[in-house]
Amino acid sequence: MTKVGFVGWRGMVGHVLMDRMNEEGDLSRINPDFFSTSTPGQKGPQDQILKDAFSIDELSQMDIICTCQGSDYTNKVYPELKRRDWNGYWLDSSSAMRMNENAVIILDPVNGNVIDRAIDQGIKIFVGGNCTVSLMLMAIGGLFKENLVDWVSTMTYQAASGAGARHMFELMDQMSFLAGSAVDNKDALSLGKLVQKNMEHASFPTGNFNAPLAASLIPWIDDGMKDGRTKEEWKGEVELNKILGLKPPVPVDGICVRVGAFRSHSQALTIKLKRDVSIASIEDIVKNSNKWVKVIPNEKKQTLDKLTPAAVSGTLDIPVGRMRKMTIGKEYLTLFTVGDQLLWGAAEPIRRMLGILCR
Ligand code: HSE
Repeated sequence: MTKVGFVGWRGMVGHVLMDRMNEEGDLSRINPDFFSTSTPGQKGPQDQILKDAFSIDELSQMDIICTCQGSDYTNKVYPELKRRDWNGYWLDSSSAMRMNENAVIILDPVNGNVIDRAIDQGIKIFVGGNCTVSLMLMAIGGLFKENLVDWVSTMTYQAASGAGARHMFELMDQMSFLAGSAVDNKDALSLGKLVQKNMEHASFPTGNFNAPLAASLIPWIDDGMKDGRTKEEWKGEVELNKILGLKPPVPVDGICVRVGAFRSHSQALTIKLKRDVSIASIEDIVKNSNKWVKVIPNEKKQTLDKLTPAAVSGTLDIPVGRMRKMTIGKEYLTLFTVGDQLLWGAAEPIRRMLGILCR
């Protein structure tokens, strides 16, 4: 059986990956070894002794190394393995090697053909995509496949989980800090004043987000770039085009915003179509593109029941709704989509890629 070394399996994405592998019985189909950067020698899953995640000797015994440990680990360890001529597969959830020309960004329901071709060509580095990009393509990959997309503008509403575990706790801490404001307040205006005062309080917890997120939002994700985009916004364009192998690239641009959702990212898309296609045909293309995408009728009850982070978190569903032609022209389509940031946005493409490499 294929020897797979797991690194970073205790972190948030790694944990979700392990849960999904257990649910699907994947671990029984491989020969897993668990590595640790901090506690090698201690007991790990399946009563195994944890191996040293910095031991190139141990790592190079693996057919596949699957890491959710982050970019610093990849940047340190992968070059050392290559210096030893290790020839296994490197499967990575971090962005460190995403744009490397020898790496493929994996999202098999959307680019299974690109993945199969890369395996045949001897490519060994497979990397999970940025969560927002993966979720967008799970939703509208079918429109690209039909060559209908001229450009996309995306406005995102990204959950705290995308920033990391400490940020999820900080969002809850901010919410608790504010929650007391409502207790002794009878009118909304004085409640508003107290909420504002609490957000400005010296002990209001902002050490991770550097700003209030609860009862507010943050229209900036990741570092800034020279052209005025943030890195998150830049990834939207370059990763989407790389995943689909589009030449020339399709323009994708917008504003990425952190909101107080917990673990599901949402996005509102404006899509300039190459031609006027009816909404009925677009719905068919979207819903037939993979088995997880669900078209939600553009009406209030179904939208509230099915097209929210609260409805989607913890599931693999990718609802797409609020779909209509915009009043600005028949070739302008708008829609809203949601997906679990830790599942399709992170762990699930990695889990499925392991299945492809071990089939
Ligand atoms: N960069 C994303 C975010 C995480 O900040 O939400 C998913 O790749």
